[in-house]
Amino acid sequence: MLGALFPTLPPETVFMTRVYNFSAGPAALPEPVLRQAAEEMLDWQGSGMSVMEMSHRGKEFMSIHAEAIALLRELLAVPSNYKVLFMQGGAIAENAIVPMNLLRGHTGADYIDTGEWSKRSIEEAGKYCNVNVAASSRESGYTSIPPRSEWKLDPNAAYVHICANETIGGVEYHFTPDVGEVPLVADVSSNILSRPLDVAKYGLIYGGAQKNIGPAGLTIVIVRDDLLGRSLPITPSAFDYGQQAAADSMLNTLPTYAIYIAGLVFKWIKAQGGLAAMEAHNRTKAALLYDYLDGQDFYNAPVEKDCRSWMNVPFRLRDATLDGKFLEGAQARGLVQLKGHRVVGACGPRSTTRCHWRGCRRWWRICGSLLRRTADSLRRSGRARQAWPRGGSCRVGRLRRLPCGARSGGRVAELAA
Ligand SMILES: Cc1ncc(COP(=O)(O)O)c(C=O)c1O
Repeated sequence: MLGALFPTLPPETVFMTRVYNFSAGPAALPEPVLRQAAEEMLDWQGSGMSVMEMSHRGKEFMSIHAEAIALLRELLAVPSNYKVLFMQGGAIAENAIVPMNLLRGHTGADYIDTGEWSKRSIEEAGKYCNVNVAASSRESGYTSIPPRSEWKLDPNAAYVHICANETIGGVEYHFTPDVGEVPLVADVSSNILSRPLDVAKYGLIYGGAQKNIGPAGLTIVIVRDDLLGRSLPITPSAFDYGQQAAADSMLNTLPTYAIYIAGLVFKWIKAQGGLAAMEAHNRTKAALLYDYLDGQDFYNAPVEKDCRSWMNVPFRLRDATLDGKFLEGAQARGLVQLKGHRVVGACGPRSTTRCHWRGCRRWWRICGSLLRRTADSLRRSGRARQAWPRGGSCRVGRLRRLPCGARSGGRVAELAA
């Protein structure tokens, strides 16, 4: 019990200072998951050990591992001819691991370039094979997905790679592209489990766990059986899908604690109603901010409507000189990590699918409110020289009543001005 772990603090105190964390990753975890992990920290289910202290081959951890895989398979309805691998190295490592594993018998692979993470994948794959950039939205400033009809795919490619959700640029596929017989590979780091996914349409999906699933250190790979055993001879054993599948991901010591937390998150998602419920939730959550951003002229949401991400909403202040003030005001309200990625420098609130069902929507409503109040305040402050039309409203409950706010009360307008 928390009381036993923190004898001088009542349980609610322990989490009272939690902020509205919009970090893209490592990202916020559902509070019930953190509470359960805290309760089990010293003694996991009567084993007398923390999960961190268990042998990865002992019966306790083996049961945690098996349950996590079973839950993930159930949530995503993974077909029986696919393996679920728990690996390490993150998505950036997968950028090399994918070509090393899938290239045998081919000289090149197709990549669709929709933003910063696609670019990283393309650069890395270029060390192992001929990369054919079959389509790119670079010219539009990475605010769109090139229409499928314009993709110049190579029928001899080993695979076609897409980034399902560009975490920096905020471009997300709301469809699964048909690429014929060539296996489709997707980096799903920032939208896995945010909605149902038809795994059977992919040859392989991969993603770091730290955004939508659990702590950093765990990489999820789901791969179709016929793509195993095709690795290049240079492939390190630990990164060889075939070898890892044969060893049930235990060829090397796996990230045990991260897998345990991931398992708790899977259970939590299932209890919320699974991925259909996550989809409804995320759809509504995203509309909260986009509706506001589209209804005013102070901020700009640059991504085209048909491919706007439900997970991360990039926006810019039309007057970039006010960015600092905006971030200051947000920080002072306990809304941390809103700053955009260093590469693009935009402000971008981000959320993942993992926050508590209603609580998470509340976070986004708060964000909408903050944007509106900050815009109003900056317009008034005289630093904003242009006379922007006011417009746009975002309905919020009273900030003061929010249960998990680090600082209840206070006025964003004052803080931002
Ligand atoms: C879509 C996407 N791909 C790749 C990465 C890189 O992942 P990692 O840091 O786990 O290697 C990120 C991380 O932010 C990402 O969002």
